[in-house]
Amino acid sequence: MSTPDLRIRPAQPADAGAIGAIYDEGIGDGTATFATGPHPEDERRRWLAARPGNAPVYCAELGGRVAGWSALAPFSHRPWYAGVAEYTVYVARDARGAGVGADLLEHLIASAPGHGYWKLVGMILPHNAPGLALAASHGFSVVGTHRGHGRIAGEWRDVTLVERHLHLPG
Ligand SMILES: CC(C)(COP(=O)(O)OP(=O)(O)OC[C@H]1O[C@@H](n2cnc3c(N)ncnc32)[C@H](O)[C@@H]1OP(=O)(O)O)[C@@H](O)C(=O)NCCC(=O)NCCS
Repeated sequence: MSTPDLRIRPAQPADAGAIGAIYDEGIGDGTATFATGPHPEDERRRWLAARPGNAPVYCAELGGRVAGWSALAPFSHRPWYAGVAEYTVYVARDARGAGVGADLLEHLIASAPGHGYWKLVGMILPHNAPGLALAASHGFSVVGTHRGHGRIAGEWRDVTLVERHLHLPG
């Protein structure tokens, strides 16, 4: 853990408002995701409640507030890919650049095998420099870039797939 006083813990229903606000900040950046907001507290509360055991959400608490959150989700419904999870890391805009994202991703890498995962993948928009830097500095390699994988505001956008195997050397 590189950020002093940072505590990473499973998300609770009471975190729903903070999680939604941080998610919407990331969506507002236009570089993080195909998702559109807003994500009000009640919607995020239902989202948290509906997640199965292999789709955990964590909060990074710093100075008594939620400074970021992370999540794992199964990459595919096919049983033979059951050990592959997609990761998500979002840090509040005013808490970025201080190592919170790094700590959240490090924590996901450490906890993923306990949820039955053998590999993490990330889907990152190619112009998301912080997202790509975070992945690269945690041992993820770029598999390639999907062309026109989705649309943001009607525009076809590419997405770069990164991966890290948790049991095999890179
Ligand atoms: C990506 C994100 C999570 C990084 O969080 P953070 O707390 O600012 O990151 P850290 O301070 O831990 O830095 C992590 C790495 O990213 C690099 N980085 C951070 N901001 C950067 C920027 N603006 N440009 C380039 N690299 C950057 C850091 O130098 C560091 O690399 P290093 O380990 O090689 O030194 C944050 O920018 C964010 O929430 N973005 C919106 C959501 C998103 O895009 N998530 C990624 C896809 S899931």
